Amino acid sequence: METEVTKARREEDRVRIFDTTLRDGEQSPGISLNVQEKLEIAQQLARLGVDIIEAGFPITSPGDFEAVQAIARQVEGPVICGLARTAKQDVEAAWNAVKDSPRPRIHTFIATSDIHIERKLQTTREDVKGQARAAVAHAREHTEDVEFSPEDGSRSDVEFMAEVIQIAIDEGATTINVPDTVGYTMPDEYGSMFEELYRLVPDLRKVVVSVHCHNDLGLAVANSFAGLQAGCRQVECAINGIGERAGNASLEEIVMLLHTRESSVGLWTGISTREIARTSRLVSRLTGYNVQPNKAIVGRNAFAHEAGIHQDGVLKERTTYEIMDATTIGLETNAIVLGKHSGRHALRKELEQLGFQVDGAALNTAFQRFKELADKKKAITALDLEAIVSDEMREAPESFGMESFQVEASSSRAPLAQVSVRMPGGEAVSGSFTGDGPVDAFFSAINAATGYEARLKEYHVSAVTGGRDALGEVTVLLELNGLLASGQGVSTDILEASGRAYLRALSNALRDSAAAEAEHHLRAAEAAETPTP
Ligand code: KIV
Ligand code: ZN
Repeated sequence: METEVTKARREEDRVRIFDTTLRDGEQSPGISLNVQEKLEIAQQLARLGVDIIEAGFPITSPGDFEAVQAIARQVEGPVICGLARTAKQDVEAAWNAVKDSPRPRIHTFIATSDIHIERKLQTTREDVKGQARAAVAHAREHTEDVEFSPEDGSRSDVEFMAEVIQIAIDEGATTINVPDTVGYTMPDEYGSMFEELYRLVPDLRKVVVSVHCHNDLGLAVANSFAGLQAGCRQVECAINGIGERAGNASLEEIVMLLHTRESSVGLWTGISTREIARTSRLVSRLTGYNVQPNKAIVGRNAFAHEAGIHQDGVLKERTTYEIMDATTIGLETNAIVLGKHSGRHALRKELEQLGFQVDGAALNTAFQRFKELADKKKAITALDLEAIVSDEMREAPESFGMESFQVEASSSRAPLAQVSVRMPGGEAVSGSFTGDGPVDAFFSAINAATGYEARLKEYHVSAVTGGRDALGEVTVLLELNGLLASGQGVSTDILEASGRAYLRALSNALRDSAAAEAEHHLRAAEAAETPTP
């Protein structure tokens, strides 16, 4: 049960929330966010009140660099951080990407476990020490805010790792993050590791110590919490727990754990918890990663009561079966906010309340979508508005667009779809195809029209709100030339939502394969320039 905190909060008990949704989270297969989408997420993370946004890994691609730079230039409030290996050009790229932020940070890392040193880096412990020293010193030439991570820290020899950490602190690192890179540790081990590190490196008390846990054994949040109890005051986490493999510690879970149990744990964060639900929906929508229904805090069943005895209890007294109030995480968005006769001004006001600044042509488009929806749906909720506006705002000029479609389906013959699609260059193309079902025919017709042989890997439909007139939200994961890409679409018509989702996924796949090709050419040119010993 959420308990009231009566004691004054002490600064030393504040846990900094370091969000890595856009870096570690974005490394999940099939996630391909464009610059605009990353900016939108970063703006929402700022509203959520995270302390640090790890906006990307700038050296990895020009697209990543551009996104980190755009976030550094446009997102105010949090520290904006870029990740770098220890190589000089990595640190330079990270700095160039974040330097326009009023609060830039460089995060540099190198592995300290023997398995990584010997097998992955194929080097020696001495070399790792030298690389860590050089990278932190180099980063400090640019900024006073430097984070250092000994990668695979939880599987490293703690005495060697302590030496490397001491070097990083001596060179001026202000945050030391010790990751459980492979999600192998257990809470008591991870907590003891920090106790040992504090003993071996007393200077750790002069810097911020951070946890970064992966969820391979489902322990990411428990391990992060153990680290906080051992004295760490920064937690690296991602919205909806997305990230490499089984993901990172989920931001909403660790934040609500600290919030709900603050009176016994004594730690607190600066997060505006009422923004949690919306941030989760936005990330899920833009990444194409659906949230499992029973996910803690943000799953659709997290506040639902199925058993009669539970429903009865909650109706009599909410706290009989609820330890948190749904409003604390901003879940009251089912309220009706607009109706059929609402005008442009009312729409704009409602959108502002939801955090969308929509003017000019964008407001006209949003208003048109709203009117189309209001013709089909009696009452428009905040969730509906959020869905249609974020759907509309995602239309990048270089993407494919749906001009028109027709799908004929009956029980007696194979469905036939005919589509007309606007290509990225503006030209309209058309195609038709039959399929096993209407959606299959529709997607095959899009392939026929565009000439791309994309293969559907996953298809999900969900309803934005309840009711027969609800908006449908479709997520598509497809494969093109060996690359996975997702897309998402919203409409009261499931086929229209499916077409939008498929075309977006196709646009993302093409953008990613162009970026991969450019990257390949760049690496080949660099290799040609490097003299062989
Ligand atoms: O998991 C990990 O070790 C990382 C580091 C780059 C911090 O993501
Ligand atoms: Zn990680």
